[in-house]
Amino acid sequence: MIIIVDFGSQTTHLIARRLRELGVGIKIVHPENALKEINQTKVNGIILSGGPASVYEKNAPAVNKKVFLLNIPILGICYGLQLITHLLKGKVVSGKKEYGPTKIKIQNPKSKITEGLQEKFTVWMSHGDEVIKLPKGFDVIGSSDGVPFAFIENKDKKIYGLQFHPEVEHTEFGSQILRNFVRVCGNKIKNQKSKIKIEELEDNIRKIVGKKNYVIGAVSGGVDSTVAAALTAKAIGKRFIPIYVDNGLMREGTRKHVIKIFKKIGIKPVVVNAVGETLSRLRKITDSEKKRKIIGNLYIEIFEREMKKLLAKKMVVKYLLQGTIYSDVIESQGTKHSAKIKSHHNVGGLPKRMKLKLLEPMRNFYKDEVREIGRKLGIPSEFINRQPFPGPGYAVRIRGEVTKKRLEMEKKADEIVLFELEKAGILPCVFLSFPVMTNAFSTAVKGDGRQFGEVVALRVIDSKDVMTSNWTRLPYEILQKISSRIVNEIPGVSRVVYDITTKPPATMEWE
Ligand code: XMP
Repeated sequence: MIIIVDFGSQTTHLIARRLRELGVGIKIVHPENALKEINQTKVNGIILSGGPASVYEKNAPAVNKKVFLLNIPILGICYGLQLITHLLKGKVVSGKKEYGPTKIKIQNPKSKITEGLQEKFTVWMSHGDEVIKLPKGFDVIGSSDGVPFAFIENKDKKIYGLQFHPEVEHTEFGSQILRNFVRVCGNKIKNQKSKIKIEELEDNIRKIVGKKNYVIGAVSGGVDSTVAAALTAKAIGKRFIPIYVDNGLMREGTRKHVIKIFKKIGIKPVVVNAVGETLSRLRKITDSEKKRKIIGNLYIEIFEREMKKLLAKKMVVKYLLQGTIYSDVIESQGTKHSAKIKSHHNVGGLPKRMKLKLLEPMRNFYKDEVREIGRKLGIPSEFINRQPFPGPGYAVRIRGEVTKKRLEMEKKADEIVLFELEKAGILPCVFLSFPVMTNAFSTAVKGDGRQFGEVVALRVIDSKDVMTSNWTRLPYEILQKISSRIVNEIPGVSRVVYDITTKPPATMEWE
């Protein structure tokens, strides 16, 4: 068993996932309870996670220093490395900031923790503080260009620290480092990819819902809600009623797509038209968080209306199924010490008081795992491999007010991007692609006349689990084609720019 002390990192849960895949038992604990939990459990390794705080701040979360006297191997990741340094009398300052990819050079290939690593490789960072003096007994085993103490160890005490994140998919040799740590802890590695058992997930749904209650489901045609719905339909059959709220903010053809999916699943969805209501509630709203809350609240109002209609037919609905996945939860400040990145409409965007209880069978899974569950359920790949689409839809891809005109512009630009990527045969390899109405304006010369039009930003990215992403190196000709078509075919657009920012630091969406 390895204990992970959670200082609020966006990726604590991902560390646990990676270790589980190596066959290790995991428990995630709060720093305040860490020592007690470690003493109560048979622990042979401790991981101190990353987190948004700074170790030198007043009230920064910490562990009791006695954990360093237990003779148990410890790995500190990001904030964890800084905390080890701080508590053992090294020095951490607000220093070199690194967000996204950087190169690490290994100086000590002979350490147990560096076994099997290349001399130089790419890692992903996300930090604003830096270790500038090591505690006694520690040595450097790897550095980045900007940060000398990026990988450290105390060989005798088996305490290690990484400034970068080995758990994220884009860090090369990340899983090798975790494997090495697991071995240092004395655990045998058992590769346990894909331990997800559909029957267990179904049983769990039946246990929660009971034998008589009905469940209504918020479905959007997206991967997460489709998989959650297929699973629930398998678990409770016709007592599951999918509802698609057409709010006008989804991609063209979504309504038809939803109907087609549920035909395959064997259930007819209820379709509620809320186009007018949504746009009128979004009038004059420019802040994305407010938009998210308005849309989240409207969804719940609609579901509660539907619940009453069903009650009149003696169908008692207690639960609302949502396709919430783990990245939605953690970004909406899902753990005690984490920061709020945004209110995902199905988590932080919901009203405080709700009549319906939430049923969220995908809550602990990542996007790639949800796709795997979908495949196991036999959902055809055309439904599983769709691009993710945010719950509040185009509302968060239009910066500033969502007017009918700007919504039309966004839809047309989106159509062009999808068409051109499809035509070039690139669409299936792309994780996510979309244009953004940036609400920034600039001059264009169209047909010898001046036009002051909106700037459209194009975002095309690669990812698997949405926790990190890289921008797609699209061929110039395709970028050119998309740019020309958007500027030529959409009046009111003056130019197109390509977003070349990784996540971190930028989120995938533009809000
Ligand atoms: P960010 O922008 O947070 O996006 O890096 C991560 C992934 O989540 C999608 N996304 C959402 N999905 N409800 C959802 O179901 C939401 O409110 C929401 N906001 C963002 C986004 O498209 C990307 O795939």
